[in-house]
Amino acid sequence: MAEPFEAVRVTDRVWWVGAVDWSVRDFHGYQTSRGTTYNAYLLMADTPVLVDTVKPGFQEEMFARIASVIDPSRIRVIVSNHSEMDHSGCLPAAAARIRPDRILASTIGVRTLREHFGTDLAVSPVADGETLRLGNATLTFLETRMLHWPDSMVSYFAEERLLFSQDAFGMHLATSERFADEVPDDVLLAEAAKYFANILLPFSPLILKLLDRVKGLGIPIEIVAPDHGPIWRKDPGRMPALYAKWAAQEPSRKAVVVYDTMWQSTAAMARAVGEGLARGGASVKIHCLKASHRSDVATDLLGAGALLVGSSTLNNHLLPSVADTLTYLKGLKPRNLRGGAFGSHGWSGEGAKQVREVLEAMKVELDGETVSARYVPTAEDLQKCRDLGLRVAERLTAGGKA
Ligand code: FEO
Repeated sequence: MAEPFEAVRVTDRVWWVGAVDWSVRDFHGYQTSRGTTYNAYLLMADTPVLVDTVKPGFQEEMFARIASVIDPSRIRVIVSNHSEMDHSGCLPAAAARIRPDRILASTIGVRTLREHFGTDLAVSPVADGETLRLGNATLTFLETRMLHWPDSMVSYFAEERLLFSQDAFGMHLATSERFADEVPDDVLLAEAAKYFANILLPFSPLILKLLDRVKGLGIPIEIVAPDHGPIWRKDPGRMPALYAKWAAQEPSRKAVVVYDTMWQSTAAMARAVGEGLARGGASVKIHCLKASHRSDVATDLLGAGALLVGSSTLNNHLLPSVADTLTYLKGLKPRNLRGGAFGSHGWSGEGAKQVREVLEAMKVELDGETVSARYVPTAEDLQKCRDLGLRVAERLTAGGKA
């Protein structure tokens, strides 16, 4: 059954031919509450080009959209900007159906695609900064190593001043609208921040260098076409400016408290920590891990100045939910945080100590001793929690921005 998918025109010569995944809710640990899109683009030139493909299972949607413009077999070149399977998963199927003259990837991309799909898939390398004249279209390729895979690159279509930015400047957001200016701004900002916090944060130093490099090249960019979410055809400088701000990780007055609890003792401690933080002038977000997903905690941590974490002790360990979130946050390498650890226990008390060890490994600047309560926190324990929050907030507001 052929479904009636159609391409969406982006410019005179570029069409969106991707797929909308309305129902995906997990992206290797990132909760994609609003689904996502896998964007592929058809560049209509003397030599038609397909830029990226889609996640396995969505290839018929992509081929149907291409077929609404041209017979897919007319495509002569496929560009693979990134080897992760949500963009390359249909590359073998596309190569088999299209039989292009060339498949192009970065030098590392050639190796990575081979490691995914074997040597039957013939892929040619393009060098960093290389410009190819494909009939009446000029494409320049820029490597963006470790943004966010070693193979990653972006492609610039000079005649349309359009940057195929691959994962960069994208977001996980399924919509019927294809352009950012058609989507409510609060949704755009929330999902763009979530995407940055959960995928790109570890690479912040590289992002700052890349933004400088692109600025230095002086390439005129009027449209930014990412591989997820809507296309930026107005104010193309907006996302780079936000990326520069987020990557700088300047600490603010925002403090994030994360905890899980068995019998409400650690919950009471978390509230006391929050009270102290608020009294000290911090803007407080409290996440109980029974209610909050790790990726929402990571999003709140973007631009925060403090992280305070609490756990009960279960079988001589911190709670599994807290271990899960701390492992996830540690991998994201947030910087410029101060904070503290707290928790309750019955007889052994390892939970809060293990939280502190992870925070130390994350290079969180810890203020004061770990606050630990036996069974049920006493008034004195809760006062220690308030004092911990107050101490963190005072040091935060001394150096943090509003
Ligand atoms: Fe959207 Fe890194 O893949």
